[in-house]
Amino acid sequence: MFRGWMILKSLHQVFYNPKTCVVIICVHVSGIPKQKATMESHVTQISRDHLDDLREAFNKIDIDNSGFVSDFELQELFREASFSLPGYKVREIIETFINGDTNKDDKISFEEFVSIYQELKSKELSETFRKTISRRDGIRSFGGMSRISSEGTQHSYSDEEKVAFVNWINKALAKDEDCQHLLPMNPDDESLFTSVRDGILLCKMINQSQPDTIDERVINIKKLTHFKMTENLVLALNSASAIGCMVVSIDAHDLMAGKPHLVLGLLWQIIKVGLFADIEISKHEGLIGLLSDGEQLERLLSLSPEEMLLRWVNHHLQNAGTSTISNFSDDIKDSRAYFYLLDQIAQHEESDFKMRVKIDMSGLNEHNLDHRAELMLRQAARLDCRQFVSPQDVTSGNSKLNLAFVANLFNMHPSLQRTQINGLDGAHFEGETRVEEKTFRNWMNSLGVAPYVNHLYSDLCDGLVILQLFEKINIPVNWKKVNNPPYPYLGGNMKKLENCNYAVDLGRHLAQFSLVGIGGENLNEGSKMHTLALVWQLMRRYTVRVLSDLGDGEKIGDLIILNWVNTTLSQKRKDSQISSFKDKLISTSLPVIDLIDVIAPGTVKWDMVKRLEKRVMDEDDKLNNAKYAISLARKIGARVYALPDDLVEVNPKMVLTLFACLMGHGLKKVNH
Ligand SMILES: *[C@@H]1O[C@H](CO)[C@@H](O)[C@H](O)[C@H]1NC(C)=O
Ligand SMILES: *[C@@H]1O[C@H](CO)[C@@H](O)[C@H](O)[C@H]1NC(C)=O
Ligand SMILES: *[C@@H]1O[C@H](CO)[C@@H](O)[C@H](O)[C@H]1NC(C)=O
Repeated sequence: MFRGWMILKSLHQVFYNPKTCVVIICVHVSGIPKQKATMESHVTQISRDHLDDLREAFNKIDIDNSGFVSDFELQELFREASFSLPGYKVREIIETFINGDTNKDDKISFEEFVSIYQELKSKELSETFRKTISRRDGIRSFGGMSRISSEGTQHSYSDEEKVAFVNWINKALAKDEDCQHLLPMNPDDESLFTSVRDGILLCKMINQSQPDTIDERVINIKKLTHFKMTENLVLALNSASAIGCMVVSIDAHDLMAGKPHLVLGLLWQIIKVGLFADIEISKHEGLIGLLSDGEQLERLLSLSPEEMLLRWVNHHLQNAGTSTISNFSDDIKDSRAYFYLLDQIAQHEESDFKMRVKIDMSGLNEHNLDHRAELMLRQAARLDCRQFVSPQDVTSGNSKLNLAFVANLFNMHPSLQRTQINGLDGAHFEGETRVEEKTFRNWMNSLGVAPYVNHLYSDLCDGLVILQLFEKINIPVNWKKVNNPPYPYLGGNMKKLENCNYAVDLGRHLAQFSLVGIGGENLNEGSKMHTLALVWQLMRRYTVRVLSDLGDGEKIGDLIILNWVNTTLSQKRKDSQISSFKDKLISTSLPVIDLIDVIAPGTVKWDMVKRLEKRVMDEDDKLNNAKYAISLARKIGARVYALPDDLVEVNPKMVLTLFACLMGHGLKKVNH
């Protein structure tokens, strides 16, 4: 999204010359697109300033600083842009462009990039933009981008967010000894942006949001040189992406520079992962009680955390006999809903809150809404829940911060009865038992698919996310063939099914996946086995594509990766070679750690590593090594999605992706 933002900004500056033209400006903010009118005209020249901005945008895409971006990256870039062009259109532009290109390669230099921009001024394209925007309107929900921090022509940022996040972090990490040099931060100055520089704070926040994501032994704490701080930041970024944060087009330099809009955008995503982690039935069986009369359980299970929170609030409001709300913006501005919600929570009999609090409701009579909000927040404070919002954030209806406020309230005091539905209780709902499901979800979310995937099966059943993933692996999707939400009430499922059929068709014919016995209807029904089979092939192709790009474009198969692992290990006389991705030795993580030692000498602290004794290792030691290995891999720059359990249990799929990432990393080093 940040990358999208860069382009947006550049396009904006290129086109937005008040005399000659008006551009489409569309910033998708948590599902609320903002559009401005469009009119088309000519742009003759690009000014120095505009060029600088384009240069900045270009550098963002050109991650490896090669001076070129590939056509695929460009396409991805457009997709990231909030008004994303359909893939075929981008390809058309690029093809036209490359045909006229003297050095016919699919690399695009900065100069070429600039002329592609100039191309975009044509009328037909701005028309396409507009269509694309309306097509995508409904489907971009909480993608995880920072709202106000990505709006405006300047990189302005939301001061409210900064204050909210600083207070939250100050509290969350107050007791952490490794953060004493940073905390408490002053919410009223810019200290947040300098405090993120050494990476420690981000790593710690990630570990809080998803415990055990980062092995803290891997974080550089002492004698922080520029290099060590960068390592921490790389570790933070790769770990953030492993928990499903979208981190395209933000790098360690941006964080080191403390760019406010990027820092806030990343922090919000990290914080949100933590806030939402437990808002599901498998974690809180009381949520079953939120099922409406006559509603299918599946429906409840497929709700997003935002929707679930809304239901939760309304459940309490209904119990209080007052009117319900339908959003966390306009509907909460008068603090009424919050007063009743707090009152219900405090009264709840199972409330584990020791000193019974009686909420003082007299604030409801206060006419000044700001004052009323303050009185309400004082009551929240008595429940230890004054977080994220100021009175002004309530009265202005800042939906992001109010969502965070409510999520925290839920986490602190869910105040739900244990419920049974048809004899089923919460224990019956497994949630994501398979480690893989979560990994797949995190992978796709980190690529910025829209809408955000909360539930692997139900959120993929209209095919849209899968189609976006096809584009990520370079398979052209004809978006004209795709049905978009909102789907009609009648026949809506048919539209979704058509998308799924198209996706399976692409997989079978263009991607040449093995999809024996898989039809669109299986995806549409949310069949686990079939969805997993397709998604795995997508992820595998994605992982391996990076390798082919680095090599001579040669197709990379398992054997090549395996050979690379063996050869690399043997070059440095490591005895941890493997015979396949199922090799039992992998459960010790020693092959991975040895490989890291070869690729990035000096990173492994051997006193942290458990060695084999009499050729065996107990489970604790295995897990210990696995955590260490994965965090190390991320620290040296490999974007690893695999989890420690994948290594301990030798899950050959995830093991493959891990080695492929390391190989990519190793090759990159050799090439430079
Ligand atoms: C972070 O991870 C470590 C394990 O490496 C764990 O012991 C620690 O409790 C975690 N910290 C937080 C705040 O979750
Ligand atoms: C919030 O919901 C109310 C109705 O309950 C509606 O009038 C208002 O427009 C909604 N606001 C937003 C921003 O969606
Ligand atoms: C890797 O090394 C192991 C052990 O030496 C050997 O059994 C295996 O065949 C090798 N695999 C490959 C692909 O080279």
